[in-house]
Amino acid sequence: MSCKSKRAKHSGNIVIRNAAQVVTPTGKTARKGAEMSALAVIEDGAVVVTDGVITYVGSTAELPAGDYSAHTVIDAGGRAVVPGFVDSHTHLVFGGYREEEFSWRMRGDSYMSIMERGGGIHSTTRATRAASFDELFASAHERLDRMLSLGITTVEGKSGYGMDRKTELRQLEVMRALDAEHPMDIVPTYMGAHATPAEWKGREDEFIDWMIAEVMPEVAERGLAECCDIFCERGVFTPEQSRRYLTAALALGFRAKIHADEIVDTGGALLAAEIGCLSADHLLMASDEGIAALAASSTVATLLPCTAFSLREHYARAREMIDAGCAVALATDLNPGSSFTSSIPLTFALACIYMKISAEEALTALTLNGAAAVGRAESIGSLEVGKRGDLLVLDFPSYKFLPYHVAMNIVRTVVKGGVVYNNQ
Ligand code: NIG
Ligand code: FE
Repeated sequence: MSCKSKRAKHSGNIVIRNAAQVVTPTGKTARKGAEMSALAVIEDGAVVVTDGVITYVGSTAELPAGDYSAHTVIDAGGRAVVPGFVDSHTHLVFGGYREEEFSWRMRGDSYMSIMERGGGIHSTTRATRAASFDELFASAHERLDRMLSLGITTVEGKSGYGMDRKTELRQLEVMRALDAEHPMDIVPTYMGAHATPAEWKGREDEFIDWMIAEVMPEVAERGLAECCDIFCERGVFTPEQSRRYLTAALALGFRAKIHADEIVDTGGALLAAEIGCLSADHLLMASDEGIAALAASSTVATLLPCTAFSLREHYARAREMIDAGCAVALATDLNPGSSFTSSIPLTFALACIYMKISAEEALTALTLNGAAAVGRAESIGSLEVGKRGDLLVLDFPSYKFLPYHVAMNIVRTVVKGGVVYNNQ
């Protein structure tokens, strides 16, 4: 797919008519629990986008009469239309790959033991520090092209493979440049606290203090990130360190996110709910108390089934979380280690087949709740008048084909801000 200028990306005009169904969650906040399965389904639907913003959603028969000569008209011809996907957790800017580690893991090595030996996140950090701005930009640009073709119209991206001032800022600058140039909207997250780099080993508390004093304020001042994230895990950062880092981030005006309870339950979900994180992510090992706390909070539980799949772990307790009243989002966790994939089709399939999430819940989790997990549910994540014109035409007449056509990309046409990108 080719790139458009930032202006074009935000101001397309389009009419989609004769959709077998236009399907969307509704609202400007995350949908929780049973609300996640309540989709609006409009038969023989139509959507109008004007200057990048949705101006009509309804039946084709009731499409308001008017002058659509400035609009591109698409006949959806009996196919389904859904909102663009929001991938709310990725590490898309990085140098190098870790294909050897994948083989080691398949032979029984654990993710954490590889990291403890200086591999894992540390390996990608060495490669990212050595990569130039242009190299990071080019490789992430290709990844964004593929994501767009899979129907992702907004993506969150984390720094965290620099962990020094210079490389962290470079990763965030790359995301800013990509956001300006690529059709994709990128929500940038500062994740300097992804691990403790070799030069700070054993001085985790000092490293946290240094980030709070020396890096976060500059990231805030230059507007390089909207969120801050930390890997709260046994052997990485403790809940106390995470609390200190995220509290400082909130005070600087960032939204807080946390990698929580992935390998061990350290109380990360409880912490996220207590301090008002936008999202708590992974949660494979989240306790009953953690789930209850998330359900009672406005924190989105972001689940990453491709990571559990790739690490041969069990899946997060999605069914129990939704039944307890949580707002669940799904994301790919694209990164060069634990989940080297941007496959929304695989995410959809794993969620429905192994995590007992319904197709309706999964669609909400990948659209409106993903948008809430990046703080943008007011403007994206559903097909409603006033929201951005980010939507997808599928190859089939129903959203139910998304998990059913297992791991296949059935996105035929991507519309981003009213601008059309065809997959065929
Ligand atoms: O979300 N768990 C920590 N961070 C990433 C993995 C990063 C990596 O392995 O490079 C994750 O899975
Ligand atoms: Fe992650």
